[in-house]
Amino acid sequence: MNRVDEKVAIVTGGGSGIGEASSELLAEGGASVVVTDINEEAAEHTADIIKQRGGRAFSMHQDVTDEGRWQDVVEAAASKFGKLNVLVNNAGVGGVGTDNIEESSFEDWRNIMSINLDAVYLGCKKAVEVMKEEGGSIINISSVMGIVAGVGVGPAYNASKGGVRLLTKQVAVYCGTLGYKIRVNSVHPGFIWTPMISTAIGVVGDVTTEEELKQMLIMRHPIGRLGVAEDIAKGVRYLASDDASFMTGSELVIDGGYTAV
Ligand SMILES: NC(=O)c1ccc[n+]([C@@H]2O[C@H](COP(=O)([O-])OP(=O)(O)OC[C@H]3O[C@@H](n4cnc5c(N)ncnc54)[C@H](O)[C@@H]3O)[C@@H](O)[C@H]2O)c1
Repeated sequence: MNRVDEKVAIVTGGGSGIGEASSELLAEGGASVVVTDINEEAAEHTADIIKQRGGRAFSMHQDVTDEGRWQDVVEAAASKFGKLNVLVNNAGVGGVGTDNIEESSFEDWRNIMSINLDAVYLGCKKAVEVMKEEGGSIINISSVMGIVAGVGVGPAYNASKGGVRLLTKQVAVYCGTLGYKIRVNSVHPGFIWTPMISTAIGVVGDVTTEEELKQMLIMRHPIGRLGVAEDIAKGVRYLASDDASFMTGSELVIDGGYTAV
């Protein structure tokens, strides 16, 4: 199910959380994976895990906001694995501590927008250029915060993830209209227990312990638990696979019911 045999994928922010799990599940499904991250050691660790399990992967340092580096990454994918079929624009920052628009700074806004939205634009632009002959799948990790606003979530995070949602649709329509066989979809996770969330203790609301934070967040998910990175990685693998061949411009919401309330 959801086989991605013979596909070559780039996963940004692949050194941690959702990016790590997505890299590992894609590799388990048969894909060759280029794991990139601004944290070089973390990316290398993910690639090592994949190789230890018999998969194909290598890691690269990449700051996704650096336009020139995108060329290096797609060239490395082509030289090592021969092509590019899948791009997962996953790298992102949470913007914890900037939840109050009155106290937030323009500098914080610009920083979050550059990583969470500008870089997704850069990734889409490069992937369309590379994939337009043979086709492919671009998967942009947005959030439930790209659909609804949330308590404790800052203006830049909400705006960046909303931007990813509509950028995805624009690129999907563009590619379809020109006859490029490139599918472009966004993924909208609910709260997933990764370093991005666990480091919010003491910043979100009045919570001071990990258990309090978990309980506060669980209350907002009708399914009664937080997500784990693999919940999202399974969606990523599905969108990467040919099983999703009729999906483009879509929003895959994997949120334990967060947006159903
Ligand atoms: N965890 C959640 O609850 C949740 C919910 C919805 C959406 N998301 C989104 O999922 C994605 C992954 O988040 P996560 O929870 O796995 O977070 P994480 O902090 O565990 O991982 C994010 C990774 O991105 C990398 N990164 C940060 N800035 C970068 C840059 N400029 N260039 C390259 N890499 C960079 C980090 O080094 C890290 O390895 C993000 O886009 C996030 O907004 C997360």
